Amino acid sequence: MIRRRLFAAFLALLLVGGVETARAEPQQMVAAAHPQAVEAGLEVLARGGTAIDAAVAVQMMLGVVEPQASGIGGGGFLLYYDGATRAITAYDGREAAPAGATPTMFLDANGKPRPFREVVASGISVGVPGAVALLELAQREHGRLAWSSLFGTSIAAARNGFAVSSRLADWLNQVKPFRDEPAARATYYNADGSPKKEGDRVVNAPLADTMQLLADKGNVILREGPIAEEMVARVRSHVRPGTLSLADLASYKPIKRAALCGPYRLWTICGMGPPSSGGLAILQALAILEPFELWHDQPNDLRSIHLIAETSRLVFADRARYVDDPAYTPVPVDKLLAPTYLDQRRKLISPDRSMGPQSPVPPGYVEHGTSHMTIVDRQGNAVSFTTTIEQPFGSLMMVGGFILNNELTDFSPVAERDGKPVANRVEPGKRPRSSMSPTFVLNKGGGLVLAVGSAGGQRIIGDTLQALIGMLDWNLSAQAALDLPRVLNMNGPTELEEKGDLAALAGRLRALGHEVQVRRHEGGLTAIRREGDGWGGGADPRRDGVAKGD
Ligand code: DON
Repeated sequence: MIRRRLFAAFLALLLVGGVETARAEPQQMVAAAHPQAVEAGLEVLARGGTAIDAAVAVQMMLGVVEPQASGIGGGGFLLYYDGATRAITAYDGREAAPAGATPTMFLDANGKPRPFREVVASGISVGVPGAVALLELAQREHGRLAWSSLFGTSIAAARNGFAVSSRLADWLNQVKPFRDEPAARATYYNADGSPKKEGDRVVNAPLADTMQLLADKGNVILREGPIAEEMVARVRSHVRPGTLSLADLASYKPIKRAALCGPYRLWTICGMGPPSSGGLAILQALAILEPFELWHDQPNDLRSIHLIAETSRLVFADRARYVDDPAYTPVPVDKLLAPTYLDQRRKLISPDRSMGPQSPVPPGYVEHGTSHMTIVDRQGNAVSFTTTIEQPFGSLMMVGGFILNNELTDFSPVAERDGKPVANRVEPGKRPRSSMSPTFVLNKGGGLVLAVGSAGGQRIIGDTLQALIGMLDWNLSAQAALDLPRVLNMNGPTELEEKGDLAALAGRLRALGHEVQVRRHEGGLTAIRREGDGWGGGADPRRDGVAKGD
């Protein structure tokens, strides 16, 4: 009897032990827009790499398997959290306008903005790329593994082939003119000119060669030499040429900036300051929303949705008016975040009536080709990196197996309005205003609580804001917060995502005076948040991504 009891107790111990092991939270994690990119990051972490080492591998693999969204020819913004010192560094690898940029470069002979598609698919829109320069600098400062060891899985995927994802197949179908680019035609299309379908194999040997050169020599191969010369030649020989020069490529420098941080309830929120508008807009929005105590509401309550839409409208009005490259036009960040100013802005919000569009917003171009990755390693370091070539397949030009960005379409197409210079006008060497919003949330002690960010052009700001509110106010898991149906307002109509149960609020929002549009939403969030002793992650269900850890 006693022996049987002892045996039962032993069995119970074993079981409890087993359950605990099964429940142990991941201690390191990668969340990105494609499962193969996540695996590339995990492979680096498994070799003892840090979050930034993994970010290099994730970016390289994204350039192979998600070429429509980001890559060697693009730019981005990366926040790095150092687990030992709890310091945050913001790296700005935003593309820059060439020295030959002029105020009229986006206008036709009559002084009117040229059609958007014409400017996207042109040499005019190609900015000096900065993504690899950024990664090289950040990896030199925070990496542990050799730079050259971070490219292996991506080179193999490009050389041996990878399966086309559903999203890549969709974009190949939608962006028909990409087929006219000979290198694209040879890579992503069949002999009869039809685009590759989901599951078809793609080999990109020129990209494998470029990545091998990057592994061996570093970013210098994009600053000088044959690949740099070809980028310049392609941009300048386009039927709608740009002015990109070898001097532009050679003089580009990523910039280390202070993260832009501010309070929200129990936490400190840190994001990317100008030339991105993301960090500022999110901090303004959270400060305006805080006294409304959203945590009392359920995620889809009319009150919260109305307040989020109205707040978003206000911050987009400021974004349009003030945010520019700070090296060219001072951005009054402190004034825009001053509590007295935000109190005034909050007073414009009525609980039962929409205020409607606020003072004119210069029409910007709208976008769709970006990726966000979120990574934490065992040492507690973290990366939140939004990386882009702007539109799907960027400028539709390929060099060395990668796609040249069309980031300069993020500038205002006109340089002045009513005789006055507008914010975000194009100038030589300037970085265009972005909405990219890599974000960290810290607790009072400076410990990392969560990391998040998104793709989605100007909708990045609302997506990231809503994900933050979901996790912080409604205490949702990272995945549940990313699954929430979206409400967005860019100082125009209030957009409700057609999928999910938010669209049911359209009538009640219209009754409050909102102009409502129910629409499909692209998304592109990834997030990782503290869960128990480890991390839980999420990837946007609207895209191909996953979050995975161990
Ligand atoms: O920097 C920006 O705000 C844009 N160029 C980002 C473009 C984008 O997110 C496209 N998304 N899917």
